[in-house]
Amino acid sequence: MSSQVQTRETPSVTAAPAPRFDLYRMIHKTLRKMMFDTVYALGCADVADDREFHAALDQVLALCEAFDHHLQKENHYVHPAMEARSPGSTRQILDEHFEHIEEIDFIRTEVARIRTVASDTRATETHRLYLHMTHFVADNLKHMRHEELEHNATLWAKYSDAELMAIEQRIIANIAPEEMMAILKVAIPAQSHQERAGMLGGMKQSEMPRQAFEAIVQIAREGLATRDWDKLARAIGEPQVPGLVEVSDTRMSW
Ligand SMILES: [Fe+2]
Repeated sequence: MSSQVQTRETPSVTAAPAPRFDLYRMIHKTLRKMMFDTVYALGCADVADDREFHAALDQVLALCEAFDHHLQKENHYVHPAMEARSPGSTRQILDEHFEHIEEIDFIRTEVARIRTVASDTRATETHRLYLHMTHFVADNLKHMRHEELEHNATLWAKYSDAELMAIEQRIIANIAPEEMMAILKVAIPAQSHQERAGMLGGMKQSEMPRQAFEAIVQIAREGLATRDWDKLARAIGEPQVPGLVEVSDTRMSW
């Protein structure tokens, strides 16, 4: 659940600093994809179609749950580490987390209300929620950027990569398998090819049972565009088609 990243942009004449372990990058890219997908789905849903209408609202609730879990993990695992070595460094973001909890509660209440409104007011009410969600997204984009710049600066100044990896391992160890699979369905498509290859390649090299790894490979195969899956399969040495042992070296180009 991680990646390496340079600490900050540097002039081209200066040697790039050594990459540091980034606790936020992978999960924040995942949450950004969820936010953009959710606003898009809400904006184009045919509210006269019950199935589309409720599916779009279900997606809003799934986003709320993902953010709820995420901010609790930051509060429980990341902030205590920061406060231990840099007192006061999480104050702004902790305050924003309290605001986000209230905001998530409000959105959940709105979703429950909108499900029951008269059909002739669905379009108006859904558009109102759509606009509200754009504000939620804008707020969280700024919030997450602050974490990735300011919190990472603190974490990198006060902790070694090995210590940061240990924090991440504690987070991962407390994620239920079903929740992890749900996260990976969004996380894999949300990353770059290099990040996907690093993530799944690392899992393949780890002590993860082969059956669990194959379930994750299946998520990647189903969630990626054909060309992206083709590249990933080659990079991690997995068959492009289940059961196909040999992978051709011939690359298609388009
Ligand atoms: Fe946060």
